[in-house]
Amino acid sequence: MLFISENEIRAAGPGGILGVCWRQWRVERALARRGIRFRATTPDKVAAAYAAMSQDEFDAINGPQDWANWRTIPRALSGHVPDEPLRVLDLGCGTGSSTCVLAHYCPAGSRITGYEIAEPMLTFANRRAYRHRDGDAVAVDFVCQGVTEPFRQFGGDLVPGASVDLINASGVIGHHLEPETFAPVLAEIARVLTPDGVAMLDVGPTLAAPVLKSLMAAAHFLCLGHYRSWFADPTGEVVFRRNPR
Ligand SMILES: C[S@@+](CC[C@H](N)C(=O)[O-])C[C@H]1O[C@@H](n2cnc3c(N)ncnc32)[C@H](O)[C@@H]1O
Repeated sequence: MLFISENEIRAAGPGGILGVCWRQWRVERALARRGIRFRATTPDKVAAAYAAMSQDEFDAINGPQDWANWRTIPRALSGHVPDEPLRVLDLGCGTGSSTCVLAHYCPAGSRITGYEIAEPMLTFANRRAYRHRDGDAVAVDFVCQGVTEPFRQFGGDLVPGASVDLINASGVIGHHLEPETFAPVLAEIARVLTPDGVAMLDVGPTLAAPVLKSLMAAAHFLCLGHYRSWFADPTGEVVFRRNPR
């Protein structure tokens, strides 16, 4: 089993949360003046808003999410996945900041595919380096598609059933999806996860933890825990594994 200590998590994550929040507030206000409102749940509006941002603007409005990812993702991973190479999907990867955290913490030899609806985000994501904590490059590719569509591999084929060990979503499901739009995502999660596979799904204003837990329970997924970036984090990620029946 993969275990990640709190000391290691504290040493790796970025600090300065007050500056990060101040920058987010200023840039979100400037974007709103240009009519760019990214806090939406209609996929077309979400894609248009994110596609209209520069990389700096995205990094500013996504700063608190990036700060949280370096704390939430390792806590969600620790004790829940085997310490062996994993096939990983990162839903709604943006410019790849959640993908970077997954690359850093997932076991060496893991392979990650990021999914993103706003194509310009992937231009930025492709420019990043993805490294494991031992320094080695990690195999990462990206697919431009909505996560409410059947999951495809780079090249266009459907992701084979029962072939994925870990699905991560940071800042997407609880921030841009609602129970109705989450239904096709859940069907795909159930299709592609291996029997022991794990889903780490963010919760937030558009899909709260109790609603997500009941939707996942109805699809026979067991909740393994709710992990947060700090104790009063109102969002975080909830971890699920298929319930052996
Ligand atoms: C708050 S950002 C989070 C990015 C990244 N996961 C992170 O944690 O830094 C949300 C991202 O999800 C993408 N997104 C929102 N709805 C989506 C959908 N239905 N399908 C694919 N991507 C989506 C947005 O375009 C945006 O890049």
